[in-house]
Amino acid sequence: MFNVTEFIDQSVSFYRDKVGGKKVLCAMSGGVDSTVSAVLLHRAIGKNLICVHVDTGLMRLNESAEVSALCRELFDMNFTLIDAEARFLAKLSGVDDPEKKRKIIGEEFIRVFEEEAQKCGDVDYLLQGTIKPDILESGTAGTAMVKSHHNVGGLPEVIRFQELLEPLRDLYKDEVRQLGQALGMPEGIVNRQTFPGPGLAVRCLGEVTKEKLDILRAADAVVREEIVKAGLDQSIYMYFAILTGLRSTGVSQAGRTYGYTVAVRAIHSTDAMTANWVRLPYEVLEAISGRITAEVCGVNRVVYDITAKPPATIEWE
Ligand code: XMP
Repeated sequence: MFNVTEFIDQSVSFYRDKVGGKKVLCAMSGGVDSTVSAVLLHRAIGKNLICVHVDTGLMRLNESAEVSALCRELFDMNFTLIDAEARFLAKLSGVDDPEKKRKIIGEEFIRVFEEEAQKCGDVDYLLQGTIKPDILESGTAGTAMVKSHHNVGGLPEVIRFQELLEPLRDLYKDEVRQLGQALGMPEGIVNRQTFPGPGLAVRCLGEVTKEKLDILRAADAVVREEIVKAGLDQSIYMYFAILTGLRSTGVSQAGRTYGYTVAVRAIHSTDAMTANWVRLPYEVLEAISGRITAEVCGVNRVVYDITAKPPATIEWE
């Protein structure tokens, strides 16, 4: 049984001793895992924790601005926002293999942090919000390789940091949420749905381009808004849009169209190791489909993913 108070006390004193007066750089994606690990470390070492959020251009709508507000205003952390969209998209240009995409994103993340670390002066540690399923599913714990999660499999061999700190590596998602709550984080952040490290790149099938990402961002915002409007956001583990590589024929007032197909995925899960698809009410599906096809230019078809994990994974890539 996970004892959250004990975990906090032990972690705070462990990292306070270990890090001493040295500096820790935090890869702050804005997701639950990295936010909770940062708040935990912040409690232990205060301003010696330097949080860096990289806007990879693969974030959801308004996400980077929200992360920035959260760290600066709510937690008063030492926080830097880096706009790296052009850099990531250039690296991803022409790449359509999912594993290659993940590895490129993982490596670019580390490079950006290394550069930032050099600007900060003496940084000895890198903090990452790796949790147990990331490690299990990357095949580093004797299990079969499913996908290389960017924060494990994509790590380049040469890292110029003394050490990687991963305070959540033995925890499952539900335990991370409990921990966040106990650390005094707001409900809305603690219960935020999981968002993968490689971001929208693994939901934008095939080659990632700015045009496709903008379409996906707009469609995803509709899915999220409609789920919240229906009052279902707290009872669904993850809900999001995928921009499939599929284009199909449609019809509009102006005549024939040839547009993208957006898939919608909503799943119930407790730890993301297994999942089942949510029986969304037809009215919610209708609102999502109607709004996406009306509001998101270039999309003429919406489908709903009715596959459990296994056999499918939660993300499409
Ligand atoms: P899958 O798609 O493997 O996802 O069923 C399980 C959970 O992990 C998240 N996920 C990732 N998280 N880096 C991450 O930090 C990744 O590369 C990655 N791939 C998947 C996914 O969103 C789900 O919650």
